[in-house]
Amino acid sequence: MQKMTIFSSFFTIASALSMPLSVTFAAALSIWTFPSHADTPDAQGDKQEQGKTLMITKGCSSCHQLTKLPAAKGLVGPPLDNMAAQSYIAGVLPNSRENLTQFLLEPQKFHADTAMPTPDITQQEARRLADYLWQE
Ligand code: HEC
Repeated sequence: MQKMTIFSSFFTIASALSMPLSVTFAAALSIWTFPSHADTPDAQGDKQEQGKTLMITKGCSSCHQLTKLPAAKGLVGPPLDNMAAQSYIAGVLPNSRENLTQFLLEPQKFHADTAMPTPDITQQEARRLADYLWQE
C-alpha cells in the first residue's frame, strides 16, 4: 500500500472515531515520518563516518590505537579494538554502549585516577564515538 493511501485512510478511520483533529494529525504524521527515522544502511554509514572523524578531530587517535582506523596509533592509552567484547571499561565500569557513552563524557567520574583527560565532546558526539567503537 502506498504511504498516501495509508495517510488518507488514517484520516477516514480517525474521523469515523471522532478523534480530535490535532491528535489525528499528530498520529498520522508519526506514521508518515516513521520510515525516514529508521536507520537505513546509508544513515548507519554516515554515523560511522562521524565517529571516525571524531576519533581524529577530538584527539582520541593520538592516545589510542585502533586497527580499523590506521591514523589511530597512539600508545598513551590502551588499544580500542574489540571494545564491544570487553567486560569492563577502564577496568572499573561494566561495559555497555550506554556506559561507554557516559565514560567518554566524564572518564574521571568513573575512574578518579585515570590518565585519560575529559574529552571536549557533546553527548551526541560521545554516542557516535561509542557506536563507532562498538562496531566490529
Ligand atoms: C591524553 C591521552 C588520551 C586521550 C586524548 C584520550 N584517551 Fe582514552 N584513555 C587514555 C588512557 C590513559 C586510558 C586508560 C584509562 C583508565 O584505564 O582509566 C583511556 C581509556 C579509554 C577507554 C577505555 C578503554 C578500555 O580498554 O577500557 C576508552 C573507550 C577511551 N579511552 C576512548 C577514548 C576516546 C573515544 C577518546 C577521544 C574522545 C579518548 N579516549 C581520548 C588516554 C587518552
